[in-house]
Amino acid sequence: MAMRSSEDLRPLIDKKKAGGKLDAKDIATWVQGVVAGVYPDFQNAALLMSILLRGMDYSETVALTSEMANHGSSLTRPKSMKRIGKHSTGGVGDKTSFILGPLLASYGLQVPFMSGRGLGHTGGTIDKLSDIPGVKTNMTPNRVEKVLDQQGFCIFEQNKYFAPADAKIYALRDASSTVDSVPLIVSSILSKKLQEGLHGLLLDVKFGSGAIMGSLDQAKRLGELLLKVAGAFRLKTTVVYSTMEQPLGFAVGNNLEIQECLAALNGEGPRDLVQLCARLAREMLRLAGTTKSLPTLSEINRQLASGKVLPLFLAGMRSHGAQRHAFDKIKLATKTLEITSHKSGWVKALDARKVGEASMILGAGRKHLGGGIDPEVGVLLQLKLGDRVAKGQSWARLFFRSSKNLSRVLTLLRSAIEVGNKSQKSPLIVAGVRQNF
Ligand code: URA
Repeated sequence: MAMRSSEDLRPLIDKKKAGGKLDAKDIATWVQGVVAGVYPDFQNAALLMSILLRGMDYSETVALTSEMANHGSSLTRPKSMKRIGKHSTGGVGDKTSFILGPLLASYGLQVPFMSGRGLGHTGGTIDKLSDIPGVKTNMTPNRVEKVLDQQGFCIFEQNKYFAPADAKIYALRDASSTVDSVPLIVSSILSKKLQEGLHGLLLDVKFGSGAIMGSLDQAKRLGELLLKVAGAFRLKTTVVYSTMEQPLGFAVGNNLEIQECLAALNGEGPRDLVQLCARLAREMLRLAGTTKSLPTLSEINRQLASGKVLPLFLAGMRSHGAQRHAFDKIKLATKTLEITSHKSGWVKALDARKVGEASMILGAGRKHLGGGIDPEVGVLLQLKLGDRVAKGQSWARLFFRSSKNLSRVLTLLRSAIEVGNKSQKSPLIVAGVRQNF
């Protein structure tokens, strides 16, 4: 195929392949070309793979983040109140945004959640709202500002207005197996967050089997670069390292997770989910610096259970278009199956990745960007790490649509659980907190 030299990425691919450094002009040319659709996907993929294998240094990552953030619209930072962003690097059963939005709104903060569609074994925030009658997350910047002003939180999609460069590059990364590159993750996350008009940013960097970063050490490499690059844009940022060894909460699957959020907003959420939300909320309040004295974790828990936060969530969702009784009856697939333990003991492992993959195979997640999801299917755990289990006791309930692939799901789930003979401590939910201010 003949290519004009200005449309030919080979000089950049060769430079990176040889371990060289891309300068700001190279990076700007490439990102602009990706957005305009100038380069063939095979060349974009070759450059991404060279970046994954050779890495990018701090200044290359800053240049990439900056160029990506320049495409699309930016929200205006409000003068009269604090706007604090939150982003998670992705996990199984991670539904914290739905709780943090109204919880922080109850303390007078604004929290925007720009989010893409879920991919692979991790669920996507936007997907979890896909089945709620009337809800629309595809918004213009004006609409997002209005919802934030009225409700204090807004959950909206990446679209032609918001971070289009990231959307295109993320799709290429998905198709070229280059998602797990630290500089590419950093530029992807921060390019989105830089468009939200923030006073501060909380990043929940997950580690463990269900996270992009398998170990705490790997998560720290990502977290440190996130802090440093955010600092280059003078964005006050806190990183919380949280575990993703087991799913967060009991529910994995879109409507199941919404149901669990409603329980949490009623003061009846699973312990690990509530604890993580309180911890993240406290760090977001610290970033805002608005409360005279920072509320304790117990005070935040009391606020969540006070009955004040659920109405804020429901009113917020009405501003997203939700019909009046949209949350009264959350639909679940009618076919169910209990998975039972083959022995008595204590739950020693409950592999988040395997549970996430099982849920994806049932139809709750998509294998590749652009695929559909089934909001009514998923896995509802009955037990968590450290819990006592008797032989024959159910530890998970499946909600499924058809028996196709069911045997694969069962094999995966049976290999996800390990039952030990000794009592286990439940794992630490947060393994560390770091700030760049
Ligand atoms: N989350 C993002 O937004 N981008 C990534 O690349 C990984 C996690």
